[in-house]
Amino acid sequence: MRVRKAVFPVGGLGTRFLPATKALPKEMLPIVDKPLIQYAVEEAHAAGIEEFIFVTGRGKTAIEDHFDHSYELEDLLSSRNKLQALEALRAAVPGAGQIAYTRQQVPLGLGHAVWCARKLVGDEPFAVLLADDLILSEEPCLKQMVAAAHETKGNIVAVMDVPREQTSRYGILDVGSDDGRLAEVRGLVEKPEPAAAPSTLSVIGRYILMPEVFDHLSRKEPGAGGEIQLTDAMARMLGGKPFHGLRFDGTRFDCGDKLGFLQATIAFGLARDDLRQGLGDYLSMIAKDL
Ligand code: G1P
Repeated sequence: MRVRKAVFPVGGLGTRFLPATKALPKEMLPIVDKPLIQYAVEEAHAAGIEEFIFVTGRGKTAIEDHFDHSYELEDLLSSRNKLQALEALRAAVPGAGQIAYTRQQVPLGLGHAVWCARKLVGDEPFAVLLADDLILSEEPCLKQMVAAAHETKGNIVAVMDVPREQTSRYGILDVGSDDGRLAEVRGLVEKPEPAAAPSTLSVIGRYILMPEVFDHLSRKEPGAGGEIQLTDAMARMLGGKPFHGLRFDGTRFDCGDKLGFLQATIAFGLARDDLRQGLGDYLSMIAKDL
């Protein structure tokens, strides 16, 4: 089973980050010096993805520009002999024809956004990455998932345990057999109240899905919050191909949340050779006054 295509739903409005996201897509917010969406694309690339499918919306053209060549800038950097910056810029641009855009014309939910990519994905397994969920790990999360999908020959979602009071923010698993790494998915519920949650194992924004999910998404039935939910379509797939949650190695940051975003900035800053010392010194200094 090869996973060659990845879908990036980037149509969301980013209301939690206003006013920063009034004119800037939330996926373009930077962690250190790279936009969130570039982390997601690099993770997909490292997992062997060859085709990058963006489901965009109004006001998202900055994303298309970001993944295109900027001749003026490249020319300037080259004439100033700033070769490292030039290389970094060029490396971020997928090859010709490897990137496709489609629009989710109406914001009907994550499931609907993924369904909008059905023609571009076709009849093969594919990945979905939500750029808000940023993962710091040695081995890229999606690469771990591709390996798991080869083992199980089925659907994989990235999962982590969350405090019970937070279940209403996530898709939650009802778990069957569980070896501590791979948890068999017996059921899936979108954003249950803590008391109703079948477990505290939550879906993080990384999925490897079989194309049958599109048949279920086509029913366009609204779920939690009145939106067409990916979780509901996945739940309807159960009983078909194997379906597992993978407890990935790594730390996940919810960059759609202000605190998560700040934590990611610090963690990714500390992971950088050029910033670790200076940032670490600053953090120790201010920690004394907290
Ligand atoms: C989406 C999914 C949810 C998942 C979450 C991960 O929710 O619907 O199942 O747990 O992403 O971040 P959202 O955060 O878009 O509300």
